[in-house]
Amino acid sequence: MRWMTILLSALMTSATWGADLELQAQAASMTLGKALKTRLLKALEAGDVAGAVAVCREEAPALADAISRDLGLSVGRTSLRVRNPYNQPDAWEKAGLLSLQQRLTEGEDAAAIAHSEWVEKSPEEKEFRYLKPIVTEPLCLTCHGDPIAPDVAKVLGELYPEDQAIGYTPGELRGAFTVRISGAEP
Ligand code: HEC
Repeated sequence: MRWMTILLSALMTSATWGADLELQAQAASMTLGKALKTRLLKALEAGDVAGAVAVCREEAPALADAISRDLGLSVGRTSLRVRNPYNQPDAWEKAGLLSLQQRLTEGEDAAAIAHSEWVEKSPEEKEFRYLKPIVTEPLCLTCHGDPIAPDVAKVLGELYPEDQAIGYTPGELRGAFTVRISGAEP
């Protein structure tokens, strides 16, 4: 019986470990998403569009770094159509975003889905990767809709000459939180 106990406990540990990573990645995404939305709403309600742009431009990466440090992982944002080229998806993210977009088109609930996988980082090392969909809401249209008010368009045009992140409608996939956690595959 002893081998069975060992086997069972090994299985349970690996299952918990896998679920744990998914939960950690979800927590990082939610924390970043909530913090950004709170800061954005505050600036927009005060009519401070320049301040709201600064939330997305300066606070988003700073918050992402702080959360990454706190949780011991890496969280950021990406999209199939980026505003900041720094957020450009890599091949894995691009495939994941396309899959999430497809699932949303088929009627799945964005809040309930994520895309995750163990991916080879190098021949010796793997990492857990995770994408949580970010859906366009009415509040996003000030800067990601069409048309965009001329004063906002001017600020964005100067900062992001290669901006692709306009013309979105509510409900559409705007992008995803992207999380990487290094560790051994269960
Ligand atoms: C006040 C203008 C503004 C509003 C409102 C706004 N954004 Fe953005 N968004 C930006 C800017 C500026 C960037 C580029 C940030 C950077 O330089 O990293 C950006 C970047 C992003 C990115 C990262 C990928 C990319 O395109 O570079 C995502 C995802 C995103 N926004 C989603 C949203 C969502 C979802 C909402 C609504 C909840 C929203 N944004 C509302 C201005 C805005």
